[in-house]
Amino acid sequence: MLTFHYDKLDSTSEQGKRLAARYRGQRLLVTAKCQTAGRGRSGRLWQSPVGGAWFTLVWPIERAVEATSIVPLLVGREVLRAVRKTIGSMHALKIKWPNDVLLGSEPQKIAGVLCEQWLHDRDGLDRTLCIGVGINVNFGCSELSHDLHGRATTLLSAIGSSLDVSRLIELCVRYVASALDETNGGRLSAARLQDLEAHLAWLNEPICLRSGDRLIKGICRGLDPSGRIQILVGQQLRLFDAGEVSQLRIDAVQSEPCVRVTTS
Ligand code: BTN
Repeated sequence: MLTFHYDKLDSTSEQGKRLAARYRGQRLLVTAKCQTAGRGRSGRLWQSPVGGAWFTLVWPIERAVEATSIVPLLVGREVLRAVRKTIGSMHALKIKWPNDVLLGSEPQKIAGVLCEQWLHDRDGLDRTLCIGVGINVNFGCSELSHDLHGRATTLLSAIGSSLDVSRLIELCVRYVASALDETNGGRLSAARLQDLEAHLAWLNEPICLRSGDRLIKGICRGLDPSGRIQILVGQQLRLFDAGEVSQLRIDAVQSEPCVRVTTS
């Protein structure tokens, strides 16, 4: 794998795409000590001060990833594994479907994954995944934007000591590479599925899924082999492949199983 380290970039994922054009067909790792225009999911800005683990893997693949949920899920799980190895086992770590890593008993986000896929040719045989990972490591919560307060944290704030960012990135890359090689974008094996569900936040608890202009409320029943989330809405088990999950109080499920909201 070719590796590129920078002190400062707009975004490691943007740089990854620029480099991919020059190094076609090769696996690349791009890291930056800070990003000036870090990107999150749904077009959100991703705060990326010095002290975080900000990196992108450029990953050529042989065929389209069948379910958009699989790669982010696997990457989130492997990032969790690397964080667990780094901070030890006494801190609760969970995956918020599809790909956020949450820390603590009142779970707060410490890491996110942004997966993008693009084609190089018309017959769709030559594809590349761009897997951007951000982990809040050695900086305080005051450097996160105001609207994230209470919902996101940093490892420094949560555990009170600095960590070796390079080593954490190295572990993530090693774990992610081996998980991607194992599945190559296919369906999740039974063992993988079981492992993912064991780390899924709010399994068998009330959740709310915001998907486009819909707000779905129900009980989280786990995942299917394509990485979709299963939600029991009223008496019906439904599958979703995209959306934002959050925890829900039980009384809200009983009174309002499914409502439509408008977005501006
Ligand atoms: C999310 O919204 O949870 C995904 C955040 C992904 C952030 C990372 S930081 C490294 C890479 N470069 C970016 O611009 N974004 C991703």
